Amino acid sequence: MEIIIQPSAEAATSVAARIIARLLRDKPNAVLGLATGSTPLSLYRELIALKLDWRKVRTFNLDEYIGISPKHPQSYHSFMWENLFRHVNVAGKNVHIPDGLAKDIPKFCDRYEKKIVAAGGIDLQVLGIGTDGHIGFNEQTSSLASRTRIKTLTPQTLKDNARFFGGEDKVPHHVITMGIGTIMEARQNLLLAFGSKKARAVAEAVEGPLTAMNPASVLQWHPNAKVFLDAASAARLKRGEYYRWVYDHKPAWQQF
Ligand code: GLP
Repeated sequence: MEIIIQPSAEAATSVAARIIARLLRDKPNAVLGLATGSTPLSLYRELIALKLDWRKVRTFNLDEYIGISPKHPQSYHSFMWENLFRHVNVAGKNVHIPDGLAKDIPKFCDRYEKKIVAAGGIDLQVLGIGTDGHIGFNEQTSSLASRTRIKTLTPQTLKDNARFFGGEDKVPHHVITMGIGTIMEARQNLLLAFGSKKARAVAEAVEGPLTAMNPASVLQWHPNAKVFLDAASAARLKRGEYYRWVYDHKPAWQQF
């Protein structure tokens, strides 16, 4: 795991945006795994501003709520179109987001996995992290080998996401999410976490034991995972100074 701590979320986001921009320039038909939530918003704004060519880019989103229409303002479909896709020249047919209204959910999930494989696998996956360490909607105790499937949100996640729905009782309980096994097959994972609310989950994910009680900790086992932090989300790391030193003293050939 490479830990990149920057003074602000904006600075950390810029480094992540640079990596994605380079990938899209080097591989115009790259396959991106994308995330929702407030964390990647500024990343998407930066990518839009970079005016990259998305014509051949394929995208797969991590997750979606079950039972709400793609047109619902809080669906992850709406989120992605509103905050990224409608601002770039991505082709609608290349965008994949789980269908929260799928009639046969296991069949849909199976097909989603097959589409990722058919696309050649995910080159780069963007991840946020829940306050309890979840990635996508892989809640605590999710199997570390899990594939795309239905999950039930925990009370903590319902509470965290209530702000988007105007009340905890309005948040759907069920979701479709890529599995942890699916995420682990991405060739590269970029996890972004900002603010003091994420500090505990980040410290556990980066320096704690690899455990399904903090699903993001599985990235310790990933050969190419980068974690982008601001000062607040990095505050509980024991080796923060070391990570800063490593990043500031990267040999020129290793810089991104
Ligand atoms: C939801 C999403 C996750 C996201 C998390 C954190 O649970 N399914 O992908 O990482 O929220 O969201 P935020 O970035 O708003 O803190």
